[in-house]
Amino acid sequence: MPKLKKVFICQNCGTASPKWQGQCPDCGEWNTLASEMTGRASRPGPGSRRVETSSLAILAQTEQPRLGSGSGELDRVLGGGLVPGSVILLGGDPGIGKSTLMLQAAAALQQHGAVLYATGEESLRQVALRARRLGLAQATAQLLAETCVEDILAAATAAKVRVLIIDSIQTMYSRGLESAPGAVSQLRESTASLVRYAKTTGTAVLLVGHVTKDGQIAGPRVLEHMVDTVLYFESDTGSRFRVLRSVKNRFGAANEIGVFAMAEQGLREVTNPSAIFLSRHAEPVPGSVITVMREGTRSLLIEVQVLADASLGANPRRVAVGIDGNRLTMLLAVAHRHGGLALHGQDVFANVVGGVRLAETAGDLAIIIAARSSLQDRPVPNSLVAFGELGLAGEIRPVPFGEERLREAAKHGFTEALVPEANVPKRPPDGMSVRGVTRLSQALEP
Ligand code: TYD
Ligand code: MG
Repeated sequence: MPKLKKVFICQNCGTASPKWQGQCPDCGEWNTLASEMTGRASRPGPGSRRVETSSLAILAQTEQPRLGSGSGELDRVLGGGLVPGSVILLGGDPGIGKSTLMLQAAAALQQHGAVLYATGEESLRQVALRARRLGLAQATAQLLAETCVEDILAAATAAKVRVLIIDSIQTMYSRGLESAPGAVSQLRESTASLVRYAKTTGTAVLLVGHVTKDGQIAGPRVLEHMVDTVLYFESDTGSRFRVLRSVKNRFGAANEIGVFAMAEQGLREVTNPSAIFLSRHAEPVPGSVITVMREGTRSLLIEVQVLADASLGANPRRVAVGIDGNRLTMLLAVAHRHGGLALHGQDVFANVVGGVRLAETAGDLAIIIAARSSLQDRPVPNSLVAFGELGLAGEIRPVPFGEERLREAAKHGFTEALVPEANVPKRPPDGMSVRGVTRLSQALEP
């Protein structure tokens, strides 16, 4: 029997300290240390067990079939379906639809074999009620309201499940530990047991995870290292669109997105989301320009708005929503120096419509054109899209996937494009005229 010892573990980063302190010595967070009991195993002797090695070439030749989740968008984010034996962690704010997504996936995944949905948050009645609402009353997936990992794994083994869903990992505990569910050591131990189970049996395991105030999956970062795939479910407040994003994926591209809409009957896929963030104005308005953003393998059309207004204070304000504030300040400086835009003495507000975050430099050109449009109170034609990165010397730099961006814009009826010279394709998309520029001064020519 291992000896139990009391240690203080930071609930933020997982560092263990022998005594309590107000601040974690590792991550610097305050008041995050909590006492937990840990067992110390006896010192292991030298390995005497014979272990087998395997040939990579032989293993690499056997292709792993993937389990389709019934949702094209979820499969896309996973890189083409669930890999047997993999562990997927799904994080997101409360009420965003994690349980709904998992229940819908459970019903679709039963075509591949037995599915077990273990819930530690809701009663069986609540889950059943939701299933009814989702029109899944005929689903044969097994339900279990249980929070003990060992019992869940026993049930999963007995039912020979191919897919195991845990909602949520923060409610689970392992009998081997004395700390409460949700404590760092419990989270780590429960996840480790589930990962071990997935790898030894080839079961695909889906874990739902809570997020903290700042949007990270609650618990130590090690949780994200232990699993194969980490997905985040996100949404803007008030929007019915939900974006599923892969931030880590051992079996597919990271940063891939899938888009869903929350409807009366649960989550509906949005298979062609490129223009959902676009609000078409009947008349062109000053200060508004459409650009094309890349998310994973997708091109999204988004609207950038800038409002320049005479400032009354000594220090003009620069406010950026959905764009990095430092980048906005930098772009305005370049616009002044190399484009002759007199923006000093002007408050400048920049916004990306629809609560989208434009993290790409490809939006630079659109932001400056929108700024000029607002400053001169002259609308930009609403048949135009613009993208391109801006350098400090006033040069317009090419961006990746120029052709894909242009094609997406052409598909939605845009007929003019202003892009970096190097992004001009040999054959522009049908019905679109593409103008290439190398300098900002060229781009701002009327
Ligand atoms: P839920 O899946 O319980 O969220 P999570 O598990 O991430 O906390 O989603 C709950 C929200 O979704 C709730 O606010 C109601 C809404 N909803 C719908 O709009 N339509 C539906 O069909 C369902 C099941 C939920
Ligand atoms: Mg839930």
